[in-house]
Amino acid sequence: METTHRVVVGDARELSQVDDDSVELVVTSPPYPMIEMWDELFAELDPSIGDALQDGDGRAAFDAMHAQLEPVWDELERVLVDGGIACINVGDATRTVDGSFRVYPNHARVLEAFESRGFDPLPDVLWRKPANSAAKFMGSGMIPPNAYVTLEHEYVLIFRNGDDSRSFEPGADRRYEAAYFWEERNRWFTDVWTDVRGELQALEDDHEELRARSAAYPLEIPYRLICMYSAYGDTVLDPFWGTGTTSLAALCAGRNSIGYELEEAFREVFADRVESASALSRTIGRRRLERHREFVEGRRAEGEEPSYDAVHYETPVMTKMEREIRFREVSGIDTLESDDGYRAVHEPLALE
Ligand SMILES: C[S@@+](CC[C@H](N)C(=O)[O-])C[C@H]1O[C@@H](n2cnc3c(N)ncnc32)[C@H](O)[C@@H]1O
Repeated sequence: METTHRVVVGDARELSQVDDDSVELVVTSPPYPMIEMWDELFAELDPSIGDALQDGDGRAAFDAMHAQLEPVWDELERVLVDGGIACINVGDATRTVDGSFRVYPNHARVLEAFESRGFDPLPDVLWRKPANSAAKFMGSGMIPPNAYVTLEHEYVLIFRNGDDSRSFEPGADRRYEAAYFWEERNRWFTDVWTDVRGELQALEDDHEELRARSAAYPLEIPYRLICMYSAYGDTVLDPFWGTGTTSLAALCAGRNSIGYELEEAFREVFADRVESASALSRTIGRRRLERHREFVEGRRAEGEEPSYDAVHYETPVMTKMEREIRFREVSGIDTLESDDGYRAVHEPLALE
């Protein structure tokens, strides 16, 4: 099996290199309005934003920043297939403007924007992102009432493009082989994720500093979402690609990807990350299988034997739907002739 991973250095407000109805899943994290690290970028996209901030008009700046994201949301509606899913990772912002502290609820604005474009909102996920500084609490310390709750979560807002779910031909291998384990379903389809930092992050330790500088999300977030909402052969788009975490997750999960990014320099960062894709995909697949076997041992210790056998691995599984599950590892990777990305070859996961 082969996949391609294209990167376009360009403005996602016009996804001119992405055809209508050509993407099955969007996984992305936009620059968050009213978070200071993005002020300059937003002011470049619309100079009136810089003026509003300078004038201490937080509301106007907040509105105008969201107005810069809206053309991207329009484009997503165009390129996503009917029933395709969009997962938008976003956090709210707290900020003092002109002496007044408040929260700027980015998640509410994004939700409204998608709903007004005909997307159906689906139940969303909150993930916990602990702020580990002792000085994280804001306001007037230990006396009421003017202290503020610290924001330590982000949202993954989840939308379906239109009213109907995607359909597949009966028994489609690419869907059944992309199954996840029963106990993964139980963890992943829970609305509060407390474990995303610990999971795959340790595998990419070198990138800790970079992650802070580029606001990259933990690899576990796009990896899980891709496994949850796409099948083998699907294409995942990230219009705010950054350092390409979504594409790296797509590589590891055996899906195609496309990214749009204004900042050309991030392509080099991704070129480094791609070198680890082969080992990373193998480690992730083996680790999932290992965790599953531990789960099975736990069930057995409680006197319960899962009812079915997996076809491709020596392990029982809980349900019939998991039987065909099959992991892929990246066995080779090359740059595309057009030099705008990579082609990867995937083989069934080699076991130790
Ligand atoms: C929050 S970061 C995404 C980080 C990414 N998820 C990662 O893991 O590296 C948002 C990215 O969107 C890019 N960006 C902002 N506006 C854009 C636009 N209109 N078109 C393309 N890229 C844009 C920024 O340069 C930034 O790299």
